Amino acid sequence: MDYALEDEFGDIIGKARRGQDLFQSQIAAAAGITTAQLARMEQYTLKPTEAQVYKLAEALNLDGTKLLDIAMEQWAPKPMQHPENANLDVITISAPVGGWPVNAYLLICKATDDAAIIDTAAHPERILEQLDVHKVNPTAILLTHAHSDHADGLPQLQSATGCRTYIHKNEPKPQSATQLRELVQADVVAVGELMVTVVDTPGHTPGGCSFLTQTAAFVGDAIFAGSVGGPNISYQAEIDSVRENLLSLPDEVRLFPGHGPATTVGEEKRHNPFF
Ligand SMILES: [Fe+2]
Repeated sequence: MDYALEDEFGDIIGKARRGQDLFQSQIAAAAGITTAQLARMEQYTLKPTEAQVYKLAEALNLDGTKLLDIAMEQWAPKPMQHPENANLDVITISAPVGGWPVNAYLLICKATDDAAIIDTAAHPERILEQLDVHKVNPTAILLTHAHSDHADGLPQLQSATGCRTYIHKNEPKPQSATQLRELVQADVVAVGELMVTVVDTPGHTPGGCSFLTQTAAFVGDAIFAGSVGGPNISYQAEIDSVRENLLSLPDEVRLFPGHGPATTVGEEKRHNPFF
């Protein structure tokens, strides 16, 4: 495989189990394995058999066939071709936070060279460097959610760019942030000639949201290629909002997550075991 998914089999079954408030003992019994075996699978030290994958999927309300593809490392989203006629560019800025890579993005309007900064990846200096490299004019900072790996360094970015920061009304506000504008579902932020629409995707956090423009959506930790973000607030809200507000979009819409590779609506409908 060209690149790794954010979540392995063990992460997926752990998130599904904890999200549904189930004990390891319950799921192990339903799947015909011991609790110790399940614990090892969740910690990636025991590989499941094909039959075990199907039983675990059934016990966890996941799609067995899709889960098996990921367990056997038989799927990753195809690297995306940038549409040639697109009037927008997306720059991915990946930076390690606590040993794990996190993605921030620049969304660039090609007609005006205006750009939105989407999340901080806790590395404001890398964002500022990329604004220089691409010679674009930042006009807004959009936060998918307030977790520190996505929002740290905000004051530095704000003072260097003079941009307002947009964040969902229901999201806890990052400390020391000023110039915040609150958003709700269907609000529109203009970035040059691009219209960016707010899409509610709560569940990982109370006011997690995604930003959609044309055929690109920036989804934070709502959905990853082949998985979802940790359902810290509500598993059901996370699954329902992603299904209703993101996976209802056309198959070719590209999804740019806060962690792991970019994917598309079509790829996730075909391969994400949570849906
Ligand atoms: Fe997060």
